[in-house]
Amino acid sequence: EKGAYPYYMLKEIDEQPGVMRSLIEHYVSDDGTIVIDQSLLDSMKQADRLYIVAAGTSYHAGLVGKELFERLTQTPTEVHVASEFGYNPPLLSKKPFFIFLTQSGETADSRQVLSQINEWGYESLTITNVENSTLSREATFTLLLYAGPEIAVASTKAYTAQIALEAILAKKFGEIKQVAIAKSFDVAHELTMVANGMQELVDEKGQYEQIAANALATTRNAFYIGRAIDYDVAQEAALKLKEVSYVQTEGFASGELKHGTIALIEEGTPVIAIITEEKTAKHTRSNTQEVLARGANVINIASRYLSEDGDQIILPDVHPLLTPLLSIVPCQLLAYYTSLQRGYDVDKPRNLAKSVTVE
Ligand code: F6R
Repeated sequence: EKGAYPYYMLKEIDEQPGVMRSLIEHYVSDDGTIVIDQSLLDSMKQADRLYIVAAGTSYHAGLVGKELFERLTQTPTEVHVASEFGYNPPLLSKKPFFIFLTQSGETADSRQVLSQINEWGYESLTITNVENSTLSREATFTLLLYAGPEIAVASTKAYTAQIALEAILAKKFGEIKQVAIAKSFDVAHELTMVANGMQELVDEKGQYEQIAANALATTRNAFYIGRAIDYDVAQEAALKLKEVSYVQTEGFASGELKHGTIALIEEGTPVIAIITEEKTAKHTRSNTQEVLARGANVINIASRYLSEDGDQIILPDVHPLLTPLLSIVPCQLLAYYTSLQRGYDVDKPRNLAKSVTVE
């Protein structure tokens, strides 16, 4: 099934441009109209606040979803880790609407929250890759990711599919709410640009293998930094690296580094900075200067229009709300190559299961 690929993880990283196109095919008709169940949209329209609930990588896709829903639909949005929500639910707004993000549709922590909100009588949407999964059956509405089976334990294409589908849903919902930036956001065109950009990145794999060998193959720890939407991606990038390579790694808001974590920076500590937003680029670069001065091995991942001499990884330019779909790809590949260079089975990391059905 993995054909010419040595591992599913690499196959699934490579499939991401196709996953973007498949989402456009499933959700956007030829005349550009977005096709989403009217009763779902009617239900969302009643909401005064969205609550995204998820675990792990899906939670990280939810963090990006918050940016998309708030900017494109002007609806306040909270993102919650399912295992926390279950025991420490937030104070809910008058008209909450719940969105469950779950690749497998079986995660016990998320199921527990859904049972609770069903008891309370609220409507919900599950965004999942698995038709007829438990969370799909138990929610009021379902949207499918159409990403094809994800076999590698570390999630890659499900993350980007979740973000792309959130963008499609936010566009449609924002249009209905008459939000100007949603009306002018041509999501099919922008996701096509993303698919092309992803293709460029996966075609340049060799470069990431080299960077992994130089910076990550033997390190004890590593840090990913970014601000705003780049911070969201930094957290997912860190999870990818730690789960397949066992390197101790965290994603930080770059401005927060100096409030403690910078104490861990030593000669050669890898610090990977994600820089895709004009309003934060300068500030994140000043944080990379701070760690450089303490000996860090800095790797910059920057959008082309913000790139500077010496940046190691350049991302094709896409719509500013969709940069996570590109910036995560080199991070997935860095994690993949680091795992191989350390001699691990990248598809089956120790201690992890593909779907976590215990609380
Ligand atoms: C990370 C990973 C896990 C899952 C998490 C939630 O690569 O795969 O963090 O994202 O267990 O799983 P789903 O999305 O199936 O609910």
